[in-house]
Amino acid sequence: MADAWITSFYQFMNSLGYIHPIHAAFVHMPIGLVVGAFIFGWLAFLFNREKLARSATHCILLAFLFWFPAVLFGFMDWQHFWGGAWLTLIKLKMVLAGILFIFLVISLLFVFKDGVGSKGALTGYTFCFFTVVLLGHFGGQLVFGDKGRTAPRNYTAGEKIYLARCSNCHPNGGNAIKPGMPVKNSPKLQDFDMFLSWIRHPDPPMPPSSAADISQNQAKELYAYIVNVLDRAGVPKGGT
Ligand code: HEC
Repeated sequence: MADAWITSFYQFMNSLGYIHPIHAAFVHMPIGLVVGAFIFGWLAFLFNREKLARSATHCILLAFLFWFPAVLFGFMDWQHFWGGAWLTLIKLKMVLAGILFIFLVISLLFVFKDGVGSKGALTGYTFCFFTVVLLGHFGGQLVFGDKGRTAPRNYTAGEKIYLARCSNCHPNGGNAIKPGMPVKNSPKLQDFDMFLSWIRHPDPPMPPSSAADISQNQAKELYAYIVNVLDRAGVPKGGT
């Protein structure tokens, strides 16, 4: 049931022209606010400014509130774009998100117990800061890891679809979930019809792409990109 709800949510975003993971855009809220708390907190401490310590408190409180939607969107993206697959980076991010939650709560407890400018609160902000730096780093790797590639002009449309829909699980034409079943040189690429029927009805855990996700024409672009760019990338020099 949650699945259907998540799918229709992404179809709605799709219809607005937004095809990327939502968490990636939203997560700047808690990250930015933690960075704000860290900067205000340290400035308040170094220059003994009570007002700045207050600003830090407000930032950390908002960061705590935004933690919840950021994690929710992260979970939804994970279900939708990664098929809920247990990739190492995902596990790392879950653990770090849990750690961040604990540091946020500890920071707030210190604020309430010892006051806005307390050393305990400042220590809390500092730990939150390093945790979000790590979270952001791994998140960036997850989403942009291999996405700096640019295909020759004719294939950029297909590449775009591949990066949005396939490369989370198939970075560089490989397979992050079942390494023995890469996209590159797959038997499913023999001709376009076979390819199309595979992406419409793949074996789980690969998620099916409906015509609303990837139209027939888009599938053609995608196929051309995979066969002409990705497949060839693995062919040693001098090969065909
Ligand atoms: C959530 C992860 C995930 C996504 C997203 C995904 N795949 Fe897959 N894909 C897999 C898995 C897992 C397999 C192996 C399935 C199996 O066990 O048969 C696979 C298998 C394949 C194969 C067959 C490999 C073989 O040798 O039989 C092709 C081709 C393929 N995917 C293409 C795509 C394309 C194109 C897209 C984007 C439209 C895509 N995949 C999106 C996970 C994914």
